[in-house]
Amino acid sequence: MADAKSLAQISNEAFRDEIDRGMQSFTSERFIDFSKKPHVKVYVAEAEREVVGFLILTEGNIETPAQIHLIAVMKNFGGKGIGKKLVKNAIEHVKVIGRKKVKLFTRPWNVAMSKVCIDLGFVPEAYLRGEFLDADIILYSAFSK
Ligand SMILES: CC(C)(COP(=O)(O)OP(=O)(O)OC[C@H]1O[C@@H](n2cnc3c(N)ncnc32)[C@H](O)[C@@H]1OP(=O)(O)O)[C@@H](O)C(=O)NCCC(=O)NCCS
Repeated sequence: MADAKSLAQISNEAFRDEIDRGMQSFTSERFIDFSKKPHVKVYVAEAEREVVGFLILTEGNIETPAQIHLIAVMKNFGGKGIGKKLVKNAIEHVKVIGRKKVKLFTRPWNVAMSKVCIDLGFVPEAYLRGEFLDADIILYSAFSK
């Protein structure tokens, strides 16, 4: 709860391009709502006693896979492995709860996120044209044995 304001600030900065395209901007209330939902995990990354990143995971159910809905790291803390660590934690949790698949969507031009996905064993499953805010996205998924 105490981190919600930081998460909204980080998101509004990290997703500036998408907000400029028409995506709704982020508020602390939205993060508080996320944190109260059943089967939603919010991972918060701290560095130098500051909130510097986060990841939101929905656990899925017998019918649908787990999904990483949102992940962001503050620009000046990027490239230090924080994003990968957040995704690794989410994958571990997905395994623990017995889910076989975790998916996420990202932009084809998002080099940092694509690198995180590929390095952690995600595979590109689909290229969806004009899927989000009239622009393309890629579906990446990771599977546990
Ligand atoms: C995507 C994001 C979460 C990654 O977080 P991060 O903490 O920087 O990630 P990591 O440091 O673990 O890994 C990033 C990797 O991409 C590499 N990278 C980053 N930008 C790059 C670029 N422009 N070209 C090539 N490689 C790049 C980094 O060097 C690193 O690789 P390495 O581990 O081999 O050094 C972060 O960039 C971010 O918040 N972006 C804005 C929000 C966003 O796009 N979220 C994802 C939407 S699905």
